[in-house]
Amino acid sequence: MKRIAVLTSGGDAPGMNAAIRAVTRSAIDAGCEVYGVHQGYAGLIEGDFRPLSARSVGGIMQLGGTILGSARSQEFKTEEGRLKAIWELRQKDIEAVVVIGGNGSQAGAYALSQMDFPVVGVASTIDNDLAGSDITIGVDTALNIALESIDRLKTTASSHQRAFLVEVMGRDCGYLALMAGIAGGAEAIIIPEVETKPEQVVQVLRQAYERGKTHALAVVAEGAAYNAAKLAAYFAEHQARIGYELRVSTLGYVQRGGAPMVYDRLLASRLGAAAAEALVRGEKGVLAGMIKGRVVTTPYDRVVGVQKPLDPELFKLAKVLDT
Ligand code: F6P
Repeated sequence: MKRIAVLTSGGDAPGMNAAIRAVTRSAIDAGCEVYGVHQGYAGLIEGDFRPLSARSVGGIMQLGGTILGSARSQEFKTEEGRLKAIWELRQKDIEAVVVIGGNGSQAGAYALSQMDFPVVGVASTIDNDLAGSDITIGVDTALNIALESIDRLKTTASSHQRAFLVEVMGRDCGYLALMAGIAGGAEAIIIPEVETKPEQVVQVLRQAYERGKTHALAVVAEGAAYNAAKLAAYFAEHQARIGYELRVSTLGYVQRGGAPMVYDRLLASRLGAAAAEALVRGEKGVLAGMIKGRVVTTPYDRVVGVQKPLDPELFKLAKVLDT
């Protein structure tokens, strides 16, 4: 293996830069040349590659976002798009690609590897919805940001005797909401994996009010059947029964921005290095992830299209603790 490329794809996640740095430096250490692909798969199709050196990836570990840029490419979902990408890679004598990204990005990587182009993935998404890694790059920082916001919202909620609906990201996965809800001491957690009727949330908030709590907080996953906007619309007609005045706060993209925290820098460094090492020893069509505390590679056919279950024990714990 002499020349490899690295790209970041899909929603950016804090820690992606640490992963780019680790891939680059580990590959160079093993005697490879490294190219950075700009704007994810869109740049792969356009041949937008630039050489990376150990020095050019210096000073990026602490930066949020991705220095390579990211994109969601529709064209790469087509065989024609992927053939163009392979042609561009071969033009530059690039023999393999490292794809740093989440679910959709690793599906694209799998499709590329099925066309006989060597690929290794690095598990990176704030959603934590990717099989093949118990925890993905960006989750810890996104959770810390959500938690800080929840703590802040609780103080203003208490001052005004209000209930808050706090919506967090996560696409179709409730992991961020569940963990932020437990760590933030939420009265209710609404996630896509567990059916929750709006009336149940009204009851929970009402009970908190009757128990004399100065505020109540419901953490809602954006992918829940009743997201914050739908719940708020329902609550508008039931305000009197809830007791508290209600406010809504959608955290959104703020969870994806900012400097990666220590866990994400370490995870990204380990997974990035593991991906480069895997390529060098001839592995391909696998995802580098962390399972049971160990860095491992998992074949894409056991990752892509595989549902990652939420631990039901955590949901039970949340219910016990919210009294
Ligand atoms: O996958 C990461 C994520 O932030 C999801 O939580 C969210 O649903 C989605 O990306 C938003 O996508 P976009 O950046 O394309 O608006």
